[in-house]
Amino acid sequence: MKGIILAGGTGTRLFPLTKVTNKHLLPVGKEPMIFNPIRQLISTGITDILIVTSKEHMGDVVGLLGSGYDVGCDFTFKVQDRPGGIADALALAEGFAGGERIVVILGDNILTHSIRPYIEGFKKQTSGAKVLLKKVGDPERFGIAALDERSKMIIQIEEKPQDPKSDHAVIGVYMYDDKVFDFIRNIEISERGELEITSVNNIYAERGEMTYATVDGEWTDAGTFESLKYANDLLLSIDNRIKE
Ligand code: TTP
Repeated sequence: MKGIILAGGTGTRLFPLTKVTNKHLLPVGKEPMIFNPIRQLISTGITDILIVTSKEHMGDVVGLLGSGYDVGCDFTFKVQDRPGGIADALALAEGFAGGERIVVILGDNILTHSIRPYIEGFKKQTSGAKVLLKKVGDPERFGIAALDERSKMIIQIEEKPQDPKSDHAVIGVYMYDDKVFDFIRNIEISERGELEITSVNNIYAERGEMTYATVDGEWTDAGTFESLKYANDLLLSIDNRIKE
């Protein structure tokens, strides 16, 4: 299995912090943000990792990470020319994936506990996809999953619902089989002008091919001033080390 970290985008909600630098290079605890998803993948045994970022910041990202030798993995880098959405960034990974199954992490998602058990669960699945969920107090702000708790399948994911069907938010860690790239080719650009990962996930859900697990430990994104502060405190409290 191969790992992909999506670190493009514009980071407008963090302006002016992100005016001249990439969001994923901002400090969270004692390290740049992108080290948390890298440590996550390494904790699952995945060391073949693709980093997608914008052309403006690729130089800095490569300067920070190098080959991966220092942290015990092997990095490949790909440029996303324009911030066309998460699914647009993921489309760039098709050649890298080479038909293998993939784990995708959004570069601004911070987790305190290893995702290893969920990756092991996905390995036992013969095909399809898996997403990770976390209970939230304000479901109107997230992609919310309607669940079949008996079969442990996702029925549908709704973005920022007015009338949420659960309080389970879909976090930025996704596992896919090799059909994902065909599905990306079949989705339409959304009203906000992006290729949305929720559209891809809903294709798997409609086909009855999307399982889920609820994560242990703490999770947050770090894409707003409030969540960046929260992420910072969280990782400082564990010295940036992921709990196994
Ligand atoms: P978002 O937070 O949705 O977008 P953003 O990072 O551009 O921030 P803002 O909304 O404040 O402008 O993106 C979530 C993650 O997905 C982020 O860590 C980077 C990644 N991403 C890409 O790699 N490419 C993209 O085109 C987009 C939109 C996001």
